[in-house]
Amino acid sequence: MKILFVCLGNICRSPLAEGIARHYTVSQGSDIVIDSAGTGSWHVGEQPCDHSIAVGLQHGVDISGQRARQIRGDDFIIFDHIVALDSSNMDTLKEMGAKRILKLGDFGAGGEDVPDPYFFEGFEGFDHVYTMIEHCVQALLAELDRNRGS
Ligand code: 4NP
Repeated sequence: MKILFVCLGNICRSPLAEGIARHYTVSQGSDIVIDSAGTGSWHVGEQPCDHSIAVGLQHGVDISGQRARQIRGDDFIIFDHIVALDSSNMDTLKEMGAKRILKLGDFGAGGEDVPDPYFFEGFEGFDHVYTMIEHCVQALLAELDRNRGS
């Protein structure tokens, strides 16, 4: 199974979702492939933002090796599940013709968007973003696991 997390810049939220999901799947010995991408191209090739790297490290998840990339048409063929971090990115993915898009907040957060921390003042808010992503990623993986088993 292959899962792709998608946000706007691929430097704040989806790298955390990728890192957290990989952390869990690796610790479970699972063969799920995890990746992330942005709908925008502004930050292609860059490391995740400093605050996302820092909050990840606080929780034992190192995302510093990731590099931003933009979503491509063949991602919709390669990945079994495309998971948007908010409704705006979900709309963009639909406009691009993606089928089978999931929204991360539908897994344990009542459909809420993961807030975009790019314009937050300093580190404040990144803890909440981390906690929300972690909670939803765990719920998503559990749901996909249940579906695989049934
Ligand atoms: P992300 O945050 O979508 O969580 O990676 C953003 C990063 C960059 C921009 C917007 C959001 N930007 O406008 O450059």
